[in-house]
Amino acid sequence: MNYTIKQNPIILGIESSCDETAAAVIRGRKLLSSAIISSATEQAKYGGVVPEIASRAHTAAVDEAVKTALKDAGVTLKQIDAVAVTYGAGLLGALLVGLSFAKSLAYTLGVPLIAVNHIRGHLAAAYLSDEDLKPPYITLLASGGHTAILHTKTYTEFEVLGSTLDDAAGEAFDKVARILNLPYPGGPNVQRLAEKGEANIPFPQSLVKNSQSLQFSYSGLKTAVINYCHTAEQKGEKISSENVAASFQCAAIDPLVKKTVECALKVGAKTVTAGGGVAANDYLRLTLKAECDKRKIKLVLPEKKYCTDNAAMIAAEGLIQYEAGNFAPMDINACAQIPLK
Ligand code: KG4
Ligand code: ZN
Repeated sequence: MNYTIKQNPIILGIESSCDETAAAVIRGRKLLSSAIISSATEQAKYGGVVPEIASRAHTAAVDEAVKTALKDAGVTLKQIDAVAVTYGAGLLGALLVGLSFAKSLAYTLGVPLIAVNHIRGHLAAAYLSDEDLKPPYITLLASGGHTAILHTKTYTEFEVLGSTLDDAAGEAFDKVARILNLPYPGGPNVQRLAEKGEANIPFPQSLVKNSQSLQFSYSGLKTAVINYCHTAEQKGEKISSENVAASFQCAAIDPLVKKTVECALKVGAKTVTAGGGVAANDYLRLTLKAECDKRKIKLVLPEKKYCTDNAAMIAAEGLIQYEAGNFAPMDINACAQIPLK
């Protein structure tokens, strides 16, 4: 179907890839509303996300999330110009709830359906913080599934300059949280504990040693934290969980910050952005800001609530796809895995 591309379209975004059922409305780059209904409290009982529980929670919440987003935005369904929805990556059953809902809505309203790659949504969150943000720029992407430094060259194209060889940074935070007996979700709890500690344990940094390339690795760091805690336990020694958390946090984040700024200087980018759940980490935000300020690089950070999963970022990426006329067919399927590039 051919659609007229409007200026400043009103886009409804829907996200259901993991444990947040989210809906948001934007007009052009202006965010009008963002609603999130999370099943995290229920998931916490199981120490992580149980896919079946996530799917059921999305089914129960998607209608309410969309209604809330429309109401908060002061927008009616008839005013929606496009529906943007996450089609992957994520939990298949969870994705299907949002995707089916979005398809029905777009079809009924006769507006385009835009299929959004969740990770591109994380990257687009920065556009919500700065209406003037334009490529090229360098992005530090750090979520539960990805850790990479990207060179965004145009609104739709980026080059991966470096990435992790094994675990993602968020995954490492979650694993360390489990070692320290902190509840799910791990990342924010590790951060809170780290704030009370001192980074005085020499854990290996998350950068692959002797590597000129920009490769990260979190498995060695994670094993070092496990070994440190187990050895102390076997010897009957008391450890400071606060110092473990603080030392881990520095080892996990310092190399990401350092290499992101180095990449910006190398490619001559004047702007750096960040995205993904780990970009909500206060230590990362403060150190990245300090390093960018030192080098006179502009830093555009999404608000913390738009770093972790939300639908505002899906609507923001939806706008980029809308302007590119990139609409999805109605038979598009959900996709559990999509390569970063
Ligand atoms: O981007 P996200 O919400 O979901 C994915 O697409 O993966 O990222 C979730 C990850 C989790 O691993 C979580 O522990 C981590 O982001 N995270 C944090 C913080 N907030 C969320 N990690 C460190 N510090 C935080 N404050
Ligand atoms: Zn995410």
